[in-house]
Amino acid sequence: MSHSETAAIVLAAGLGTRMKSDLPKVLHPIAGRAMILQLLDSLSAIKPEKIVLVLGPEMDAVGEAVSEAGFTVETVIQQDRLGTGHAVQQAENALAGFNGNVLVLYGDSPLITPQTMASLLDERANDDDPAVVVLGFRPFEPNTYGRLNLDDAGSLVSIVEAKDASADELANDLCNSGFMAIDGSILSGLTGKLSNDNAKGEYYLTDLVGLAIEAGRSCAFVECDEEETIGINSRSELAEAETILQDRLREDAMANGATLIDPSSVYFSHDTKIGQDVTIDPNVYFGPGVEICDGVHIRAFCHIEGAFVENNAIIGPFARLRPGADIGEDAHIGNFVEIKNATVAAGAKANHLSYIGDAKIGPKANIGAGTITCNYDGYVKSMTEIGAGAFIGSNTALVAPVKVGDGAITGAGSVITKNVDADALALTRSDQKSIAGYAAKLRNKKGQKKGQKKGKQ
Ligand code: UD1
Ligand code: MG
Repeated sequence: MSHSETAAIVLAAGLGTRMKSDLPKVLHPIAGRAMILQLLDSLSAIKPEKIVLVLGPEMDAVGEAVSEAGFTVETVIQQDRLGTGHAVQQAENALAGFNGNVLVLYGDSPLITPQTMASLLDERANDDDPAVVVLGFRPFEPNTYGRLNLDDAGSLVSIVEAKDASADELANDLCNSGFMAIDGSILSGLTGKLSNDNAKGEYYLTDLVGLAIEAGRSCAFVECDEEETIGINSRSELAEAETILQDRLREDAMANGATLIDPSSVYFSHDTKIGQDVTIDPNVYFGPGVEICDGVHIRAFCHIEGAFVENNAIIGPFARLRPGADIGEDAHIGNFVEIKNATVAAGAKANHLSYIGDAKIGPKANIGAGTITCNYDGYVKSMTEIGAGAFIGSNTALVAPVKVGDGAITGAGSVITKNVDADALALTRSDQKSIAGYAAKLRNKKGQKKGQKKGKQ
């Protein structure tokens, strides 16, 4: 998809007061990344020549997050928030001499798809050469949206804001999403004619349509689903957007050959990669940076972030894979096992109640229940290495840095502080004593006392 003669203006000067947050609104995350990055990612798919981001004063953090994420944008500041038309005017210097399509998007409306952006640009290229192509939609509740006024032939002739609309106009359910593609060669000519003589006292971008018609040009519209137009102004709308995006990610995973037993209880990150024939049981959460290869089974209630899981491994139920977890083919990571910055090689098993941090576990090693890698002494983190086929007895504490050789065994309950040679048994528990008859004696003594107490009551 390439519309090389396209530049984009992303409006994001809104204050976001309803978010009740110190974080600029467009930095609030959906599917694990700032909403503005979600939008810029979709925008990149149509390969615009230039992106101009309109921010309000004191929003440096937005520009920083955008460039940190690797997007090249030119940032301009709208000092006073005088309306969407005024906001677009702030971007015009940055686009001086540009005569292609200018696509206007909103930073707080990140769910528009590249396909829909492309449909606006395709419509701009139709034989009538429309000066402005507006993205319309028919919402469940049109209420406060601007309305698209059409003539008898069904052509777009103006947009009226709800506050300025007549009862007849309000009865029309074809609404303005706010997104549009404009002929760049006449953009500044048209915005120069905007006035703020309206109900809100703002310079409305929507007036461009009427102005273009007055100038003898045609305008057009295309329609999209309401879902793509949702604007995020509150935490409640943020949650709504999250749900829509999660549904898309779930659909993608299933379309690519994963089985989700209960899709609505699985949460993906924008970048989660899921292979074919993967089964994901209910209530699984993926943070950023996860890749799951083919045939993996993720059982219920797992929390997985920054992890790589190779073919046919079994994870969970109730497992936690933290950043740097690299789980090999056919490995099993079971209930209440936490893995961080550790490689678990093919066929290795850690099935119950363990912490494996800063470690290398060899192929087919068996990690017994309750094994803990003691990787942190309060000052530095150290590595634990466990060889191929080693058997770590239940409740072993491995005090890192430490190595257990191939095929070695550690006895249950051992605290391993020194390296263990290959094929050796390391055991650090004290000998068991057995005192004949002691338990019976104790029972008699304590039992008598209990009887006396009861008698007193
Ligand atoms: C706008 C449209 C309306 C449409 C609706 C869709 C206008 C006049 N109205 O109304 O027809 O139905 O969106 O959601 O365009 N912004 C700035 N600077 C400003 C004003 C706004 O950057 O001075 C940005 C906001 O941050 C936001 C976007 O522009 O991202 C839209 O602004 P908003 O105030 O939500 O516009 P609406 O009144 O909802
Ligand atoms: Mg709005």
